[in-house]
Amino acid sequence: MKRVCLYLFALVHVLGAHRWVGCITCSTGCRRPSPPPPRPPPRRPETASAKTLMDIGTRGIFSEEHDLFRQNVRRFFQEEVVPYHTEWEKAGQVSRELWQKAGEQGLLGVNISEKHGGIGGDLLSSSVMWEEQMYSNCSGPGFSLHSDIVMPYISNYGSKAQIENFIPRMAAGKCIGAIAMTEPGAGSDLQGVRTYAKRDGSDWILNGNKVFITNGWMSDLVIVVTVTNRDAKTVAHGISLFLVEEGMKGFSKGKKLEKIGLKAQDTAELFFEDVRLPAEALLGEVDKGFYYLMNELPQERLLIADMAIASCEFMFEETRNYVCERKAFGKTVSHLQTVQHKLAELKTEICIGRVFLDNCLQLHAEKRLDSSTASMAKYWATELQNKVATQCLQLHGGWGYMWEFPIAKAFVDSRVQPIYGGTNEIMKELIARSIVGKN
Ligand SMILES: Cc1cc2nc3c(=O)[nH]c(=O)nc-3n(C[C@H](O)[C@H](O)[C@H](O)COP(=O)(O)OP(=O)(O)OC[C@H]3O[C@@H](n4cnc5c(N)ncnc54)[C@H](O)[C@@H]3O)c2cc1C
Ligand SMILES: *[C@@H]1O[C@H](CO)[C@@H](O)[C@H](O)[C@H]1NC(C)=O
Ligand SMILES: *[C@@H]1O[C@H](CO)[C@@H](O)[C@H](O)[C@H]1NC(C)=O
Repeated sequence: MKRVCLYLFALVHVLGAHRWVGCITCSTGCRRPSPPPPRPPPRRPETASAKTLMDIGTRGIFSEEHDLFRQNVRRFFQEEVVPYHTEWEKAGQVSRELWQKAGEQGLLGVNISEKHGGIGGDLLSSSVMWEEQMYSNCSGPGFSLHSDIVMPYISNYGSKAQIENFIPRMAAGKCIGAIAMTEPGAGSDLQGVRTYAKRDGSDWILNGNKVFITNGWMSDLVIVVTVTNRDAKTVAHGISLFLVEEGMKGFSKGKKLEKIGLKAQDTAELFFEDVRLPAEALLGEVDKGFYYLMNELPQERLLIADMAIASCEFMFEETRNYVCERKAFGKTVSHLQTVQHKLAELKTEICIGRVFLDNCLQLHAEKRLDSSTASMAKYWATELQNKVATQCLQLHGGWGYMWEFPIAKAFVDSRVQPIYGGTNEIMKELIARSIVGKN
């Protein structure tokens, strides 16, 4: 009887009819099935089990609102960036109109609070911007640096007047931001900074030059890392940040630097010759600049790392499509077992990277990402990006070496990632410090 009952119960369950026939099954004497618990919301698939690595609607860290935002951002890159990118690569910069269009659509300063004139989105919405840019294979627009590196300095350390003056214009894409730390003689070692601001009454007189500045050529506002106290016990104790604006007398820009990748990015050299800055141009407190930099660098490293994994995901899908189309020896290249194994290896490593990155994004959204974890993400993800780029290009054969193929661009663009944002050697220094202390 019990077995028959179970059988009957299983059958009506399979038929989805257990709700209304429940009374029949229990009247035969077996235990009354408890009512089904409220259905948990469907679990979002993680990248490894998604159909493609760029699917919308995946990854447990995101919500449906993020999915909607991602759809809009994806459309923006497809409609407003992709068709013009080749032209911008030739020009060495994107257009000003693009910045304003991004502003109009609420895509700049996504994570800056509304009360400061930003969009008021969470950190994960910012990460959607980072990832979608990589998925579009267009590295030209310097949005992430502007929105998630430069703007936070102003909203976090700026005065009320500075915030009111700059943030709304930056969110509208009418004021393009840059940050200038590196100098010809000071990259990894910021103790080598020579740019110097000298007090003159309540003003400052700024002299020096900076190199490799992203958004440098188009910038309307530059945060300049400057020595203000030459007698401090270390250089780090005597550094301040200044807000220098396009058009200030004595501020000039060198030519756009010719790079092996990031062809539509306007990387430039900046010169400051007796630039007179009012007291209000100082960002935060005097001599606190190094401290502010240390606070903000983990987010810069996180965004580089997230873009690295997103780039891997894009390169993988490009390559999968290519080998499934390309014919050799009477079949598609994807029939070759060595090719299949290579794809299996690449997908595995990318998915492992994605899990760590999503964990870092979640930690940072909760303000719990520490400097050494961010450094691990930046170092490891950018190394993976270069490995994936090399192997995916190889799977394209000669066509992979042709500029018109997205993989060629992704390959050259990936090369700078282990270099800027603190080189990967410096990342290892920071990680090691947390392992063995300061001995
Ligand atoms: C395209 C591009 C965009 C950039 N954008 C910006 C920007 O917007 N703003 C900005 O300020 N900077 C920017 N940079 C500069 C970038 O951050 C620096 O190039 C980087 O920090 C390295 O400095 P460096 O070039 O002087 O190299 P160096 O510091 O001279 O390093 C040379 C080599 O020595 C190694 N090394 C140095 N110190 C150590 C150490 N202690 N231990 C082990 N190895 C070490 C380095 O890792 C590297 O391999 C950009 C660079 C590029 C290429
Ligand atoms: C990659 O970007 C180029 C523009 O630089 C564009 O023409 C091409 O369609 C893009 N490819 C993909 C797969 O998005
Ligand atoms: C931006 O992200 C941080 C997490 O890093 C979060 O604490 C903050 O509330 C976010 N800003 C807005 C406006 O949501």
